[in-house]
Amino acid sequence: MKRIGILTSGGDCPGLNAVLRGVVRSAEALGWEVVGFKDGYEGLLGEGDYTILDRKATAGIMSLGGTIIGTTNKGHFVAKVGAGDKTMVPKDVIDQARATLKKLNVEALVCIGGDGSLTTALQLFEEGFPVIGVPKTIDNDLEATAMTFGFDSAVACVADALDRLHTTASSHKRAMIIEVMGRHAGWIALWGGLAGGGDVILIPEIPFDFEKVAEAVRKRDADGCLSTLIVVAEGARPQEGKQLMHVTGSGEYKLGGIGEVVAKEVAKRTGKETRTCVLGHLQRGGAPTTLDRILGTRFGVKAVELIQAGKFGHMVSYQNYQVLDVPIADAVHRLRLVQTDGQMVNTARAVGISFGD
Ligand code: F6P
Repeated sequence: MKRIGILTSGGDCPGLNAVLRGVVRSAEALGWEVVGFKDGYEGLLGEGDYTILDRKATAGIMSLGGTIIGTTNKGHFVAKVGAGDKTMVPKDVIDQARATLKKLNVEALVCIGGDGSLTTALQLFEEGFPVIGVPKTIDNDLEATAMTFGFDSAVACVADALDRLHTTASSHKRAMIIEVMGRHAGWIALWGGLAGGGDVILIPEIPFDFEKVAEAVRKRDADGCLSTLIVVAEGARPQEGKQLMHVTGSGEYKLGGIGEVVAKEVAKRTGKETRTCVLGHLQRGGAPTTLDRILGTRFGVKAVELIQAGKFGHMVSYQNYQVLDVPIADAVHRLRLVQTDGQMVNTARAVGISFGD
C-alpha cells in the first residue's frame, strides 16, 4: 500500500475540506492510505503531528468551512514576507520535515496553500521530496490558475453583505462603505462589488482620488439615487498616499482602516451621512459555495492523479474549465493582479461603477 501525506497551510478558506475529501476518496480507491498533517507544515516537525484520514474521518465535511486538520500562516515554515519576496525556510527545518516523512513511510506529499505555502512546497521538492501543490487563496491572486477555491465563497459573502447594506443605506439615504479583503489584488472587491450592485469600487491596482469618489456620490444624488455603496479593498490606496496598516497585539502588520478613511473624506466632501462596515474574516468563514465544493473536489482528485503520474513539483491548475497542472515554479513569486483595462473592469465601468480615478 502506498502512503501519501496531505496538509493545509496558510490562511484557511472554504473548500479546503472538499479537497481533503476528494484526495482521500480517490486515494482509497487506489488502495492508498492518507496521512493528514496538522496545522500545516508544523505537523511535519518533531515526531510528526498527524491523523489518518479515511472515508469515515472525512464523511460529512464537504459543507464545512475551514480545515479539519488545522492550518497556520505562522511558525517555522513561513517562506514569504511580501509580494515578490522570497525567503527560504532554514535547511535544518526542511531536513526535519523530510526525516518525519521518511520515518512515517510517506511517499508523496500534497501541499494545499497559497503563494508562501507553495514556495515552501517547491523548496521541499527542490530538496528531493515528491510534492504536489494545490493552489488556495480567497484573494484569487495566484498566477498559473484561473481560479482558486474559496474565492467564490468570499465573493458570495461580499454580495450578501452589499444586499443587506443596500436596504439600510437607501432607507437612510447614506453612503455605506464596506471594506473587504484583498491585500495586493482587488478581485474580491471587483467581483463582490459587481455582484452586489456596488456603485464605487476601490482596488489596489487603481489608486484613487478622494475627490473623484466624492464626485461619484454627488452625481448619484443629483440623479436621484440618494444612497451609495462603496466597496473598498483593504489594500486600496489614494493616489497621494500609502496602504494603511495597523499593528496587531502580536506585533504583526495587517492591512485595514482604509474604509473608515474613505467614509470620513466622503462625509467631509459631500456633507452626506456615511457608515463603515469591515467585513473581515466573515469572508473566510462558513460553508463553501457549490462552485468551491466542486472545484475543491476536482483539485483533490487531480492531485492524486498527478501522484499516480509521478508529476512531482507540479501544481493543480484551473484553465478554461479544465483542471490541468503546471510546474509550481510558474505559480509562485508573482501575483495575478486585476488588469486595469481588462474585461471585468471595463464591464464595471460600462454599468456606471466608478473606480475613483
Ligand atoms: O490572503 C488571504 C487573506 O485573507 C488576506 O486577504 C488578508 O489580508 C489576510 O489573509 C488575513 O490574514 P490573517 O488570517 O492572518 O488575519
